[in-house]
Amino acid sequence: INTHIYQDSESASWYVANEIASLIKQKEEKGEKAVLGLATGSTPTKVYDYLVQFHKEGRLSFKNVVTFNLDEYFPMEPDSIHSYVRFMNEHLFDHIDIEPFNVHIPNGNLPKDDIKKFCADYEEKIQNVGGIDIQILGIGRTGHIGFNEPGSSLSSKTRLVRLDRVTRLDAASDFFGEENVPRRAITMGVGTIMNARRIILMAWGEGKAPIIHQAVEGEIKESVPATFLQHHENCDFVIDDAASSFLT
Ligand code: F6R
Repeated sequence: INTHIYQDSESASWYVANEIASLIKQKEEKGEKAVLGLATGSTPTKVYDYLVQFHKEGRLSFKNVVTFNLDEYFPMEPDSIHSYVRFMNEHLFDHIDIEPFNVHIPNGNLPKDDIKKFCADYEEKIQNVGGIDIQILGIGRTGHIGFNEPGSSLSSKTRLVRLDRVTRLDAASDFFGEENVPRRAITMGVGTIMNARRIILMAWGEGKAPIIHQAVEGEIKESVPATFLQHHENCDFVIDDAASSFLT
């Protein structure tokens, strides 16, 4: 893991947005598509703001970009205020020129019997476009990446999972109470994430310092899924000063 420590989330997000923009341009010059793995939550919003800004300034097109989001709550209606579909539209997709057919987000609105097939198809779609070039990640206090909670295996693939109590508590204020937070989610697996050619994990604030310390310097184990990233050969942790404060 390469750690990059920035003074604040603003300058860190600027770096990440520029890394994404360069990839898109490089691929464009070669006549290829850039494949991005995207995250939701509070952490990546400034990166999306910068990408929207680059697009509005006429410096960046998303016509050749394909995206796969990490996860979605289950069950979840796509037009709910809590859905990750809505989140992505509001923060990014509604403001750029991406083709709707190039956007992929796990469907939280399926009958349970259809989920297995949906997840297998999601994996296949990622493979069919040649795999993910850059995967963006946040990290949960449980050490989850995507919604791969403690106990997720290194080889796990896209699937229906149960959310950890801590994760549901962290989401409680958004949902106006823990009881309203869905108990399950569909998430890419650790194995899906590990197959990305490059991974950029971001974390801001002192609340993330203990888990960043464990993820970077702790023993690799299933009880802290983010530690599996130590096995990846092209993984950057882009964090602010506060999130770095437990690193030795
Ligand atoms: C979101 C996701 C989660 C979040 C993590 C951190 O798509 O997969 O792993 O990245 O829960 O959330 P925030 O950024 O809100 O602290």
